[in-house]
Formats: sequence, structure tokens, C-alpha cells
Amino acid sequence: MADLMIIMVLLSVLISYCESVGNAASFTVWPIGSYINGPGIIASFSTREIDECLLHCVANSNCVATNVDTTNDMCELLSAIDCNNQGSQNGDWRVLHKEGEYACVVYEYKGCYLDDPTTRDFDQMAYQGDPANTPNKCANTCADSGYSYMGLQDMDECWCGNSYGLNGAAALDSHCWRNCTGDPAYKCGSAFKNSVYQLVDYRTP
Ligand SMILES: *[C@@H]1O[C@H](CO)[C@@H](O)[C@H](O)[C@H]1NC(C)=O
Repeated sequence: MADLMIIMVLLSVLISYCESVGNAASFTVWPIGSYINGPGIIASFSTREIDECLLHCVANSNCVATNVDTTNDMCELLSAIDCNNQGSQNGDWRVLHKEGEYACVVYEYKGCYLDDPTTRDFDQMAYQGDPANTPNKCANTCADSGYSYMGLQDMDECWCGNSYGLNGAAALDSHCWRNCTGDPAYKCGSAFKNSVYQLVDYRTP
């Protein structure tokens, strides 16, 4: 009878393990981007293993995504994703998100690049003079038209294209020094200089 109990317990452990692995299959690692700032870090664990961090997330019904630092042993569980709040942190971070639980265009900074009024680096100017310019707004605008790169220029301009670098890189990253009109936490280029980002569109298909 005791043996049967042990077998039953082992079986239920095995079943819940299989269920969590099954659920883990519905998570995706962002191909670019590195970190999503809050809102709502609900727990953190000391591990650099993506699989282990994911099992913590799957076990927590409030968890919709994780940040994992694959070099410095940090796993954060998130209860929400704020598309406006994609950023960088020291470390080698990965974001895993639950399918269907959010709708961001993911963006990753590529550098500060030169523009030229006669040889524009990007195909299309999406908007200019926008008092609410942010990386997220420009990323969504460019992704709406199917572009895979954006350039944020001179505080309030958004440019879209499928390549960048025609006029070379700025000598220093700090040459893209102007704050974005819509969020001073981000830089939006300067005169004829673009803060360039790569985009991947994860919004609902
Ligand atoms: C730019 O933003 C930073 C904060 O990120 C702030 O300290 C600085 O004063 C801002 N610069 C201007 C010119 O508004």
C-alpha cells in the first residue's frame, strides 16, 4: 500500500512536470532586444538557465514573460510587458514571452549613423515635428509599413527603411545626443544623425 502511494506521488510529479514542459513550448525567446523594464517584476531567482527560469514562470500563473541574464545568474518573472519600456541592462539578457500575452514591436539599438539631405539613409520619413516621439511609437509606425529598421532623428523625427549605414556611422555614439520628445529616457539622434534600431514585429498576426 505504501509502495502504491509512492508510485502515485511519483506519477503526479511526472504529470505536472510534463504539463509544465508542454506549457513551456508556448514561450518564445525574442530574437533581438535585450531587456524589458517592469512594470511588475513579481519574483526573481538566481539562475542563468533559460529552461529553469521558464519553469519558474510556468509555475506562476501571473507570469507572462521573463528576463534572463545568461551570464550573471538572474531570472526575473514579469506579470506584464510595457512595450514603451524596452531597454538595456548590464549583462547578457534574454526575454522570453508567452504566446498571445503581449503585442510589442521589439527593437534593438544598432548605433548612431549619419544622414545626409541628398543621400537619405532611410526610405521613408514616417513623421517629423512630433512632440510625442518615442522609440516604441516609431517602431510601431515603421512596422505597420513592414519595415525592419528605424532611425530616430533630431528629437522628433521617425524614419523607416530596410537597411542603414549608407553615409556611415557617426564618430561617436554620443553624437546622437538629443532626447526623444516623448520620452527623455531615450536618445533620438541629432541634426542629420539617426539613432538606428532593428525591429521585429510580434504584434498579433
Ligand atoms: C535629457 O534627458 C535626461 C534624462 O534622461 C535629462 O537629465 C536631461 O536634462 C535631458 N536633456 C534635456 C536637454 O532636456
